[in-house]
Amino acid sequence: MSIYNRKIFQAIAVVLLALGVALPAVQADDDRDGKYVGKYGGENRGKPLQLGQTNSKFQQECSACHIAYVPGLLPAESWRRIMAGLGKHFGSNASLDAEDSKEITAFLVSNASNRWSAPTAPLQITEANWFRRKHGEREIRSSIWKNPHVKSPSNCAACHPQAERGDFSERNIRMP
Ligand code: HEC
Ligand code: HEC
Repeated sequence: MSIYNRKIFQAIAVVLLALGVALPAVQADDDRDGKYVGKYGGENRGKPLQLGQTNSKFQQECSACHIAYVPGLLPAESWRRIMAGLGKHFGSNASLDAEDSKEITAFLVSNASNRWSAPTAPLQITEANWFRRKHGEREIRSSIWKNPHVKSPSNCAACHPQAERGDFSERNIRMP
């Protein structure tokens, strides 16, 4: 590399570094809804979370082992991935016939988060930035997660009794 090229290279590196440091600082700055497009690094749940409409197949097939998670908790691409992998679904076989799978996928995709701008598609709600932020050590004592009534962070209804209706409002939280 010539000296000239190396200088350009170093300048670019300095700019990238500065951006890398500046961006998280901006995001951490504020937690109010809707202020930044990139809130929670763009991994934000949809608004509103209520089921705009229900789908009886979804209610029936997706509530056998856990609550039927509201579609707005994840982006469309996450639902596509989850629905494509039901044969190996968190250690369970949750496969459906092609027709039901198609109908449920369409329902989930069309009601997915409308505020997710990051190019990510986690398979778990509990992996999303918005979830981690709302359920971090600042908000919830870590001992709660060991409570036998909670068992797993995926067990939303342990603390949000109205979770299945998409109601996670703070006034309806009941800590076990
Ligand atoms: C045979 C049981 C079973 C059925 C049926 C089932 N699941 Fe699951 N699902 C699981 C298990 C087990 C987990 C892991 C939960 C945990 O870690 O506590 C899980 C986790 C999930 C998660 C991630 C939750 C988190 O941790 O953030 C999503 C999303 C999900 N399931 C969606 C669905 C959808 C959509 C359907 C219907 C098509 C479905 N599930 C049907 C067993 C099932
Ligand atoms: C151990 C109890 C507990 C479990 C389990 C739990 N939450 Fe929460 N959740 C809370 C608490 C406490 C808050 C309020 C945090 C705060 O102070 O901002 C909260 C906040 C939220 C919020 C934000 C509400 C608002 O108005 O800002 C959403 C959405 C949410 N939880 C969804 C979920 C989902 C989805 C699950 C399951 C995948 C889940 N929670 C599991 C305790 C829990």
